[in-house]
Amino acid sequence: MKGRIAEQYDNLYASKDNVFNDGLPQKAAMYIPQYLLSGTVLDVGAGEGQNALYLAKKGFVVTAIDLSQVGLNKIKAAAEIERLHLKTCVADIEHYQHQDKFAAHLFSFVLHHLNTENAIRVLETAKRQTLPGGIHVIATFANQGGLYERAKKSGRFYPSVETLEKLYDDWEILEKDVFERASLAKDKQGNHLINETILLVARKIQKTP
Ligand SMILES: C[S@@+](CC[C@H](N)C(=O)[O-])C[C@H]1O[C@@H](n2cnc3c(N)ncnc32)[C@H](O)[C@@H]1O
Repeated sequence: MKGRIAEQYDNLYASKDNVFNDGLPQKAAMYIPQYLLSGTVLDVGAGEGQNALYLAKKGFVVTAIDLSQVGLNKIKAAAEIERLHLKTCVADIEHYQHQDKFAAHLFSFVLHHLNTENAIRVLETAKRQTLPGGIHVIATFANQGGLYERAKKSGRFYPSVETLEKLYDDWEILEKDVFERASLAKDKQGNHLINETILLVARKIQKTP
């Protein structure tokens, strides 16, 4: 299954450049410099790296992980040209061994690839691997819309706003937005499937001694 996702994205990234958001950083990534001045970021499902490169240029110490070697090779090449320090790692987030804690985790349109139980486990692990005062930024397709209707029997993670918020009820919610967004997937008529999307930014509360 994971092999199929890796192959699909390898083929997609090999066939063209700037597949997502015309190669521009996603809105989700732009929240990180709004809430943190510096620090380490784990970009989960980094794709071709438009978010990781943007954050590295802003001075963050970024690790980009993805199943797609082709995507990561593009990130490495761009980082070299721009002389940016950025780590890449071919890994499945479900089995990723965190070596360190991060100031920020970015999950930009990756969680719908995981089944619900695993996505929740991944988020809970990432919460533990976040430094006090650190943040999670999540952009993910919700349980309303064409993409969800097509995938709902798959058991993949298409949360409601309430479900996602509940996962962060012990953190401070800094931003929450819900909007419709066209996905890359198309219906039989060739129209892009529109789906509700949740954007959530949450901060790990620093415990006072
Ligand atoms: C829709 S793209 C999003 C790319 C980028 N984050 C963005 O916002 O434009 C999803 C990416 O997640 C990666 N991915 C899917 N499942 C993954 C997993 N289990 N572990 C790591 N990466 C994964 C895919 O290879 C793909 O590059």
